[in-house]
Amino acid sequence: MILITGGAGFIGSNFVLHLLNDKVVQERIVVLDCLTYAGNMNNLASAIKNPNFIFEKCDINDKGSLKSVIKKFSPKSIIHFAAESHVDRSIIGPSKFIQTNICGTYNLLESFYEYFLALSDDVSTSNTTVNEITKKNFRFIHVSTDEVYGSLNPKDPGFTENHPFKPNSPYASSKASSDLLVRAWNKTYGLPTIITNCSNNYGPYQFPEKLIPLVISNAMDHKPIPIYGNGQQIRDWIFVEDHCEAINLVLKKGLVGETYNIGGNCECKNIDLVKMICSILDKLLPIKNSNKIKSYKDLIKFVPDRPGHDERYSVNNNKIKKNLAWKPRENLPTGLKKTIEWYIKNTDWILSVKNKSYRNSIDEQYCKNSVSKQND
Ligand code: NAD
Ligand code: TYD
Repeated sequence: MILITGGAGFIGSNFVLHLLNDKVVQERIVVLDCLTYAGNMNNLASAIKNPNFIFEKCDINDKGSLKSVIKKFSPKSIIHFAAESHVDRSIIGPSKFIQTNICGTYNLLESFYEYFLALSDDVSTSNTTVNEITKKNFRFIHVSTDEVYGSLNPKDPGFTENHPFKPNSPYASSKASSDLLVRAWNKTYGLPTIITNCSNNYGPYQFPEKLIPLVISNAMDHKPIPIYGNGQQIRDWIFVEDHCEAINLVLKKGLVGETYNIGGNCECKNIDLVKMICSILDKLLPIKNSNKIKSYKDLIKFVPDRPGHDERYSVNNNKIKKNLAWKPRENLPTGLKKTIEWYIKNTDWILSVKNKSYRNSIDEQYCKNSVSKQND
């Protein structure tokens, strides 16, 4: 049994679908998610039909419920995605970021450490069966971001795993804090943790507040496309399926106590990225019957900059490439085309995440059988 926190969000749900398609893994999956605005059971619609899939509505801040879920399922591994994840929201209201990303991660570490202590010792030194969960084969994978490292100048080399932490936004500093807690639970208590720090993801099921889905969704509605400041900031983009493949490899072959940086080797300026999306849309969904715009690029609007806006992220992914034989399959043109095609085909999904009341009624149907009770 693999427990996935935040499995109803963007990357978490893609990871659940990825694992269910992995013929080698064949483990049962339990998703633990409290369904914030970013969590959406529609993301897991195809998983729900799978007998190996279970959903538990649970807040990682609720220690009692966490313990019940752990006791009920006795997971062999936990992959921890649950977080508040949007930089702009963290600037407007940092409190939830501190609560979930720091205190929630602390709760998970405490709950799993208690559980870990009660596991049997190594297979070779006891009468355990091959499938039994032991202290040796248990894993706690913490999914984090390259934003913990801060911002780079144009000519700086990419972030390695040894780059100092210099987070600039409340989001990035809350994730950096959680990384440090995970490290301490490994070094001090011997909890078998692994940390991953990944660059900006894009792909299906991403909430349309992050740059790429926001641009696609606004363009499709012929609404202005906001570019912060001068649009010269650089991100190192990765297609979400490549990130999922990397985490799966870390789960199977990663070394306990290690950190792995994950990046798509696709650095791009925001303005160039937005123009690329507009060009793809011009081909896939040509504008008809508008006397206001001829190309989606006509919707681009420069708006005031984000406070503390990081100039550049770039990830050196040599360690995971060399040690775990991973490499990204998609580049920006191929990954963006797949993503835009998905959004064009799934306008109902976009509508469902924009209309919370509709989404809540769907979510309720799936949460009836949860052991944990959540105060909304
Ligand atoms: P997301 O915002 O789409 O999803 C977060 C999920 O966590 C949602 O399903 C939400 O309901 C759930 N959640 C939030 N608070 C919770 C709580 N208190 N208890 C239980 N569930 C809770 O986020 P995402 O973009 O999928 O990111 C997932 C993880 O990956 C995060 O930890 C994020 O920091 C990290 N990450 C994201 C990116 C990116 O580009 N999106 C890049 C690198 C790392
Ligand atoms: P975002 O998707 O929010 O990810 P992050 O802040 O975690 O990197 O933003 C990506 C880049 O796009 C970032 O430099 C901010 C910029 N941006 C805009 O220019 N306009 C927007 O409307 C948004 C949401 C982001």
